[in-house]
Amino acid sequence: MPVTVVVGTQWGDEGKAKVIDLLAADHSHVVRYQGGHNAGHTVVVGSQRYALQLVPSGVLYPHVTPVIGNGVVVDLPTLFAEIDTLQSRGVSCERLRVSTLAHLIFPWHQRQDAISESLRGDARIGTTLKGIGPAYADKVRRIGVRAGDTRDRERFRTLVKERATQENTVFASLGEPLLDVDDVVERYDGFATRLAPHLADTVNLLHDALANGSSILLEGAQATFLDIDHGTYPFVTSSNPTAGGACAGSGLGPRDITRVVGIAKAYTTRVGSGPFPTELHGELADRIVEVGHEFGTVTGRRRRPGWLDLVMLRHAVRVNSLTDIALTKLDVLDDFDTIRVCVGYRLDGRTLDAYPDDAEVLARVECVYEDLAGWHQPLRACRKESDLPTEARKLIDLVERSTGVPVSVVGVGPEREDCVVREVTR
Ligand code: GDP
Ligand code: IMO
Ligand code: MG
Repeated sequence: MPVTVVVGTQWGDEGKAKVIDLLAADHSHVVRYQGGHNAGHTVVVGSQRYALQLVPSGVLYPHVTPVIGNGVVVDLPTLFAEIDTLQSRGVSCERLRVSTLAHLIFPWHQRQDAISESLRGDARIGTTLKGIGPAYADKVRRIGVRAGDTRDRERFRTLVKERATQENTVFASLGEPLLDVDDVVERYDGFATRLAPHLADTVNLLHDALANGSSILLEGAQATFLDIDHGTYPFVTSSNPTAGGACAGSGLGPRDITRVVGIAKAYTTRVGSGPFPTELHGELADRIVEVGHEFGTVTGRRRRPGWLDLVMLRHAVRVNSLTDIALTKLDVLDDFDTIRVCVGYRLDGRTLDAYPDDAEVLARVECVYEDLAGWHQPLRACRKESDLPTEARKLIDLVERSTGVPVSVVGVGPEREDCVVREVTR
């Protein structure tokens, strides 16, 4: 039975949640497989706008079981605040399942994130300060506390107490204020009670669902170029958003995956620091930010804008085995005279054959652009291929020719219905 992975192909905020919401209509389970509440996933249904951080974007459909997979790092206060907000808006979260193997984020992780960013000074990564990197570091150092540890309450209290006390010795040596250990233990004990009905062996749950003929959607957060291995290190997040991470972070095997949809905006944005070859500044940049509402869902930061980069997209095709691409936010370019697309890189007078394996090199490349004429008409009402103006179709064509991968969905507005689903052979 089909397992679809949805993965960002740029630096995040490509409109993954909207596409997941669209595809979720035909799936029984939607599973987050990595990241945490650093993600900000927006779904717009009619007049309602939902900004999700941890709860999978399929939650809005009553037929979908939303699952937080083992690869996610879970901040319990954020999870319950999000559940409360959704339930107050009439969206039931009772079906939500959280993997016993998922690691938990604690207040010391957020402190460590802030300390490590301030120590970096001008070289700061610009993290979301949610404690994501420190929580994954503890996982890899084998000192993390997992959601399943809450099942034995006395042991959980002891673990939290020990970890908080250890972290306090580090904070003391740095002259930082100390955590109130007893308060942390009590609060997390309360969260453990609330988590209990959601806890599940999600690995076996998903395999059983597959065996029973269900179809599963694996929801990536962040994106290919924020990947800890394949991104612009060190300006990356601390997990593997790339499609391979979907197996590790859900417990499904590589041969279970049947479709990998890469989400690409018709331009590019990036939040936080790091190289960005097609980055724009000045009036054009302000225009994209304004028309595209390019401000972070989680931190409210202005996103850095730039043109679509097909060198990066071709690399994303490689590392994710993309079967198809969803090209989103095409409508944001409605009023541009010229739309530029980066089709190659040059470095020191020579053409680079492929995306470079060094962020320092990426910071120095010159982009080779192909200029396309704009369409000067609103795309928002387009619902089928033939509704799209020729100039817009030329852009889609260029993406397909350059990547060798079909564009199956075109985003023409923020709402669920604002898209053109194309007949393609994957
Ligand atoms: P994600 O993190 O990849 O899920 O993306 P975000 O939700 O952070 O940012 C994407 C933003 O673009 C959201 O505000 C969406 O509502 C909006 N959006 C998604 N697709 C489209 C589209 O095709 N056109 C327009 N105009 N907005 C879109
Ligand atoms: P979604 O899922 C855009 C960026 C941060 C920072 C870097 C590391 O909505 O696309 P972290 O807090 O993860 O240690 O920060 O990664 N970042 C994102 N940028 N969209 C996101 O998520 C992001 N999640 C993290 O801005 O540069
Ligand atoms: Mg986002």
